[in-house]
Amino acid sequence: MSNAPGYFVSFEGGDGVGKSTHVRLLGQWLGEATGREVVTTREPGGTELGVELRRLVMHGDDMDPRTEALLYAADRAHHVASVVRPALARGAIVVTDRYLDSSVAYQAGGRELGEEEVEGLSLWATGGLLPHVTVLLDLDPVVGAARLSGEPDRLERAGDDFHRRTRETFLRRAAADPRRWVVVDASAPLDDVQAQVRVDVAARLDLTPVVEEAVESTEERA
Ligand code: TMP
Repeated sequence: MSNAPGYFVSFEGGDGVGKSTHVRLLGQWLGEATGREVVTTREPGGTELGVELRRLVMHGDDMDPRTEALLYAADRAHHVASVVRPALARGAIVVTDRYLDSSVAYQAGGRELGEEEVEGLSLWATGGLLPHVTVLLDLDPVVGAARLSGEPDRLERAGDDFHRRTRETFLRRAAADPRRWVVVDASAPLDDVQAQVRVDVAARLDLTPVVEEAVESTEERA
């Protein structure tokens, strides 16, 4: 484990894959299984300033791709400096709904900005902080879009080709760095997806013995 005493977990994937539900369920479980403080958070919008940036970037006027990339990076810089790093320094497990790979997938893949530039911008914004493990909830974007309700935001309106490129970028990044990424098929039933997420995250964070103990003591109590 690098960077700090805590653990940093990010969830990534297209719109409508169920990230927020899985972030919440994994966070609860990790807290119970490890006894550690767990901070669940999200991008954009994990801070007060971030809530404003989220409104502007997702629901505001149209803007060019570089402006969009800078707003997401600004949200991320503030989120990392004021929430993520302090929590990791306390030894917490931080589980975030989206992080820098969303910028690479959406602003580089989707909006077709340079991938290295977009990644470099986020690395600069965060002082180079990368997650210990990144869970990609992978789903056909057409299926994801059908799960969404309400008025679509600027990104959800970006079109089928945009969302196809976004998915391809996530999958390519996951394949290129299997030490950081785990890919879970998000078309399976919710409980199966969450079970797979738990197994994969526990293994990556070297928490398997702690987690097995927690499962055994639950079974003994039953
Ligand atoms: P969500 O929080 O409901 O997933 O919505 C966030 C939207 O913003 C989603 O469409 C993905 C998009 N996004 C980017 O385009 N770039 C980013 O860096 C992040 C964090 C999100």
